[in-house]
Amino acid sequence: MNFKVKNDTFLRALLRQPTEYTPVWMMRQAGRYLPEYCATRKRAGSFLELCKSPDMATEVTLQPLDRFPLDAAILFSDILTVPDAMGLGLYFSEGEGPKFKHPLRDEVAIKALQVPDIGKDLKYVTDAVSQIRKALDGRVPLIGFSGSPWTLSCYMVEGGSSDDYAKVKTLMYKEPKLMHHILEVTTQSVIAYLNAQIEAGAQAVMIFDSWGGALSHSAYHEFSLAYMQRIVEGLIKEKDGVRIPSVVFTKGGGLWIESIANTGCDAVGLDWTMDIGIARQKVGERVALQGNIDPTVLFATPDVIRVEVEKVLSSFGYGSGHVFNLGHGISQFTNPDNAAALVAAVHEFSKKYH
Ligand code: CP3
Repeated sequence: MNFKVKNDTFLRALLRQPTEYTPVWMMRQAGRYLPEYCATRKRAGSFLELCKSPDMATEVTLQPLDRFPLDAAILFSDILTVPDAMGLGLYFSEGEGPKFKHPLRDEVAIKALQVPDIGKDLKYVTDAVSQIRKALDGRVPLIGFSGSPWTLSCYMVEGGSSDDYAKVKTLMYKEPKLMHHILEVTTQSVIAYLNAQIEAGAQAVMIFDSWGGALSHSAYHEFSLAYMQRIVEGLIKEKDGVRIPSVVFTKGGGLWIESIANTGCDAVGLDWTMDIGIARQKVGERVALQGNIDPTVLFATPDVIRVEVEKVLSSFGYGSGHVFNLGHGISQFTNPDNAAALVAAVHEFSKKYH
């Protein structure tokens, strides 16, 4: 499979090659703020069944692209499919988010962890990737993704979402060897998982380290970044002669962007707390930057959205190497018209910077 991408602005920006405008996509662009997503999800029965059906995952991946002229598609799935495939038993309880039936609570469970059989237990994901590539027919590039080992471990040890990560951080401080064991097995799993997505047709990959920002400086480097670096090193870098760029996103990672840029990734994802111009000065020519408007801006009016878009664009300044995005996922309470205003503003205002 080697479809030519008609709009490869996103891939060029990730590689800091010249573009005519700044490409844009939105984290969680396929989700509950879209009525058509809610309709498909209802038909699927549940979020997990939606993820596990390549047909319906393809349908919802394309929904935001049919509404807005986005420059990239992202595989519809979830980061927690990996621990699910490791046997932890993922389920979603209404209003409470993700949960695991068998969280990692003792040494026996931790020592028993194994890299899943990607070709079997995560085949529904790679099937979705190849089906989405076919359905996109080269419209825009497809992003594959995974959670970072640290972020996946947070859910695996806590058993679900957490406010303070007390269980996983206690394990990290009291039993660092066991913590490293979880991270080691998870790292091997993520490398195999992302490479399977690339083989199936993903044209860029992103690592979501949503909870790396909960760590201290030294713990971040030892327990999150070191493993993401191993993943970046283990990724397939080129497919059919085309570079497969990687993006590393640590929410709350603004203080560490130079270290993140040194992992060998092609781009660093930024949340909204850092000025993207300052970030650019810090990372120099090493990487592209992806971000970083506050998703809550989308609760304001289109006029405010335009002002805030211009602020991010002017802060990044002239030249390539910027992929416009939200600093975190779009809220389910966003008005889709406001998302449309954001995408239009990025395209309109960014031309003068290129
Ligand atoms: O960006 C996209 O459009 C692709 C799809 C995507 C989802 N989850 C779909 C989803 C991606 C890239 C993710 C990643 C993900 N999942 C992350 C990392 C990104 C981040 O937000 O920091 C994390 C931490 C998760 C774990 C997860 N999955 C949580 C905490 C929740 C509940 C959140 C909520 O708002 O209820 C999910 C469920 C989830 N994943 C939904 C979607 C569209 C909502 C589920 C639904 O339809 O009920």
